[in-house]
This record gives sequence, structure tokens and C-alpha cells, in this order.
Amino acid sequence: MSVLLTGATGFLGRHVLWDLLRRDPDIEVHCLLRPSKRATPERRLDQLLGPTGGNLSPEQRARAHVVVGDVTNEMLFADPEVAGRLTDEVDRVIHCAATVLFDTPLDEARAINVAGTRNVLRFAEALHTKGHLLRFDHFSTAYVAGRFEGLVREDELAPTTFNNTYEQTKWESEELVRGFQRELPISIFRPSIIVGDSRTGATSNFRVLYWPLKVLSTGLAWVVPLDANGNVDLVPIDYVVDAFGRLAADDASLGQCFHIAAGPNGQSTCGDLLDAATKVFGVRRPWLISPSVSYRVVRPLLYSVMWGRRRPLLRTAEQYFPYFAYRASFDTSATDTMLAGSDVERPKVGDYFQTILQYCVATNWGKRPVAP
Ligand SMILES: NC(=O)c1ccc[n+]([C@@H]2O[C@H](COP(=O)([O-])OP(=O)(O)OC[C@H]3O[C@@H](n4cnc5c(N)ncnc54)[C@H](OP(=O)(O)O)[C@@H]3O)[C@@H](O)[C@H]2O)c1
Repeated sequence: MSVLLTGATGFLGRHVLWDLLRRDPDIEVHCLLRPSKRATPERRLDQLLGPTGGNLSPEQRARAHVVVGDVTNEMLFADPEVAGRLTDEVDRVIHCAATVLFDTPLDEARAINVAGTRNVLRFAEALHTKGHLLRFDHFSTAYVAGRFEGLVREDELAPTTFNNTYEQTKWESEELVRGFQRELPISIFRPSIIVGDSRTGATSNFRVLYWPLKVLSTGLAWVVPLDANGNVDLVPIDYVVDAFGRLAADDASLGQCFHIAAGPNGQSTCGDLLDAATKVFGVRRPWLISPSVSYRVVRPLLYSVMWGRRRPLLRTAEQYFPYFAYRASFDTSATDTMLAGSDVERPKVGDYFQTILQYCVATNWGKRPVAP
């Protein structure tokens, strides 16, 4: 099998890459990479496959290849000759690339998440026309639910309003993918909040949940606009990759959408996670205020007294506030049905959350060298 993988340098994409190479000895993976400020695409792949990168054998590493490109480029690939060769060769596409920042300006986020997804779908369409597209796997997010409150079903993408441009453009890209799902063999995967490995805590990503945790660990967050009963749905990266691998190995997953999430029975509350974290960090539990009171009263006050370098900090903090009082839960029925009887088991948050936090402390939030 020959796969085109986008987003291989990302947190999720690198684990997907390593898993593909380990899982199937016949697979060749073409990683669509762009240069970074510091490294060429070739160097970036070498770094991903380096000694600590997924513990791969030389034979496994040799089956990963660089394809220079950018999802915002309508042609996708920098070299038309490579584009032609891959259109003959590739039979599976896995689309992980996205901007996941909450504050990317809408037009920029649309260019990557919506137009970029359309460009990857067009490539898949060309493979389909040639008669050799086996499957297209699209990584969406459970947070396409936006501000919806209640149980979110896997087979629905309901109109909603959004907390940020990430949610909005991932919703728009999923809608686009669902349109193509009528013609092409496509599965959609919606992870919730992905955290480090449940066994080791290891992560290369210290964003999303990690940012507020890091602030909490300083002991300086005395007052937090948080609803202790708010829902937090966490999944460790090892479970995401195992579940994805298992679901995508079965053609019955085509045409479907799957929440890779803790689900209504496995999700946590903000209060549970706060208690566990204050214990591990050895800090006192902050005083909680209602997020709506904070918005009306505390926010204007804070903006009047915080200026200079502190303002961006306040703005970053604000991006997370909607998730401190989250009201949706993610139904996992389709995922559970397909994984029933397999060896893929969803770890319980209470069993691994401490390991996740200890890894953050041990690595000083990724500042000390760690395995990627
Ligand atoms: N992490 C989570 O908690 C989570 C949860 C739910 C869903 N997801 C979904 O999972 C996917 C991966 O997320 P992640 O956390 O791994 O994000 P990430 O670490 O920020 O990785 C994003 C990847 O997309 C690539 N990319 C961005 N713009 C690109 C472009 N114009 N052309 C080519 N590649 C581009 C990045 O490449 P560069 O290195 O070149 O920037 C990087 O490889 C996303 O679709 C996200 O919505 C993630």
C-alpha cells in the first residue's frame, strides 16, 4: 500500500506515521512536508525518524519518503513530475494537516483547513478516477460541536456557533469532506483533546490542555473562571493511534464518522482535573468564579489593570475559557461498536492523568530534551 500523509510533523501526524510504518511491512508512506524556518523538508523527516522517533528499525524508516508541498497549494506538490508519479502510485490518503491554533485569523484558517482540505480531496478524487483509491481518512475534531450543549452524535454535523476560528474552519472542512463522502471511500475521525501517552506521559505537544495546567503549576492562578462541573474529554495519544489503526483497517468504517473520545461515561469534570493537578503540582486550589460573572465583571477589570506584556497573556488565557465550562459530551457508539472484541481499550483518565502531569514536571514542560 502507498499512502499520502499530510501533517506528519505534527503531534498526531508523527504518531500516525510511526504506527503505519510499524503496523504494515508493505506500506510506503509519502509525507507531504513544507520547509520550516530552520530545516528543509528532508531534514524534518530525518528528525522525525531519528533515534528517538518512534523506535523504528532502519527498514521501517526507509519506507517513509518526503514529498515537498503545501496543502494551500492547489497543486499540493511543489514538483509536477512528483505529482504525476504519486497520482499513479498512491492508493490511500490520510489528512492530518491543519492549523490548530484558536486565534488564527478566519481567512488564514480557512485557507489551510478548508481550501487545504479541498486540495487534498481533489488529489484523492484523481486517484479515484484512476480507479485505485482504497480510502481517505480525514482527521476532524470533536469540537466541530462548537457551542452546542448536550450529546453530540457521530453521524451528525449540526449547524452551530463557534468559540474560535479553529472550531469554525474544522466544521467547514468536515462539511466539505461529508460532501465528498458520497463519491469517495472516506472515513472521518473526531478526536477530542489529545494528551500524552497513557503509559509514559510522553508528548511533543504542550498546547491546548497543557497551557492552563502550566499556569496552574506556577501557583499564581489564585482565581480561575471555571465551572467545576464543566466537561473535559481527554484521550491519550496511544489510544487515538490504536483506535484509528483498528478502525481504518476495516472497510466497514468507510462512509462513517467516529468520535475518538472518552465519551459520556469516561469524560472528566474540570473539578476532577483541577483537584488531581493541584495535588501533583503541590499548589493550593484556586478560588473558582463563575465564567459568566468573570466575563461581565472581572474581565473588564483585568483589562484595565493589565497592560504591556501581560495583555497577550490575558488574551491567550481567554481562548481557553469556553472550555472551562463546556457542556457537550461526545457519543462514542459507532467507535465502540467497531472496536468491540478488538484489543483496543480506552484507558481511564483517572488511571493515567497523574502520569501525564508528572511528565510535564519531569521535562519542565518540554524544555528538557525528551523523546518526541
Ligand atoms: N491535538 C489535538 O488535541 C487534536 C484533537 C482533535 C483533532 N485534532 C486534529 O488532528 C490533526 C492534527 O493536529 P495536531 O495536534 O497534530 O496539530 P499540529 O501539531 O499543529 O500539526 C499540524 C500539522 O499540519 C501541518 N500543516 C499546517 N499547515 C500546513 C500547510 N499549509 N501545508 C502542509 N502542512 C501543513 C503542520 O506542518 P508544519 O510542521 O510545517 O507546520 C503539522 O504537521 C488536525 O487536523 C487537528 O484538527 C487534534
